[in-house]
Amino acid sequence: MNSALQLNAHGKLKHFLSIEGLSKALLTEILDTAESFAGITGQAVKKVPLLRGKTIVNLFFENSTRTRTTFELAASRLSADVLNINIATSATSKGESLLDTIRNLEAMHVDMFVVRHAISGAAHFIAQHSAPHISVINAGDGQHAHPTQAMLDMLTIRQHKKDFTRLKVAIIGDIRHSRVARSQIQALNTLGAQEVRVIAPKTLLPAQIESLDVTALHDMEQGLKDIDVIIMLRLQKERMTSALLPSESEFFKCYGLTQKKLACAKPDAIVMHPGPINRGVEIDSTVADGPQSVILRQVTNGVAIRMAIMSMVLQQSTEPVA
Ligand code: NCD
Repeated sequence: MNSALQLNAHGKLKHFLSIEGLSKALLTEILDTAESFAGITGQAVKKVPLLRGKTIVNLFFENSTRTRTTFELAASRLSADVLNINIATSATSKGESLLDTIRNLEAMHVDMFVVRHAISGAAHFIAQHSAPHISVINAGDGQHAHPTQAMLDMLTIRQHKKDFTRLKVAIIGDIRHSRVARSQIQALNTLGAQEVRVIAPKTLLPAQIESLDVTALHDMEQGLKDIDVIIMLRLQKERMTSALLPSESEFFKCYGLTQKKLACAKPDAIVMHPGPINRGVEIDSTVADGPQSVILRQVTNGVAIRMAIMSMVLQQSTEPVA
């Protein structure tokens, strides 16, 4: 997919569709901007007027609670107006094409689409076909990418571990169907992580996994050795077209994160999960709720990261292009 589509003539973010092709400097700018917004979201008055007068449309063709609500909160904390389109009851379900839906929203002079879609490439398609003044943010497309999730994860890691270049990170579980894992791997490699490991049964790894610049392992005890950051993933059953596992309890026995397996990582390792978590399937409750878990911090950081990205893509449009 065309990563150049994301940047304007000044190299600033016009759309945010994928981590692929973005520089370390740009990813760091997003993290620094989000850090400045994190302060605001902790104050009694949580609003800044940066996007006053802008209209942002949440176009969620697939269910989501955490991602949609944090985008909505982020937009309102930037003083933008937000439209939530309920696709289940919208004209798209009456046969209107995606492009006709987009044209109608454009006719209402909106400024941004935040897109979640079950088909890989949907956000790129909308970015390619929208009016030139519109910015598009990918809130998760099929198995391809979930770049805002990856960036909120990077912010959480940086807050706890500071320097990416010393970090060994393990991503565990259903890598094959995970758009989150793909975006996290790209972000970690761009930010210079020392090592990215994926730990999963063979059936839950994509073909040519090594081309993503990771080490693939199948055993938790071995894989967790010396690890600083553990990222657990949900079994994406809605994307499995055939039986890839004997059973959930068998999966938990081998790959579920318990206190005992956690003890194989570094003692100060942090435990992450993009949510929704399935207790007793990929993670034990004592770990999910334990002192090493930063899962709710990830949710908090979701608002600041989305504020940062929305303000960066909409502010570039007010700068004159040479
Ligand atoms: C992820 C997603 O939707 O891709 N969740 C999220 O955005 N918080 C991961 C998942 O659904 O397991």
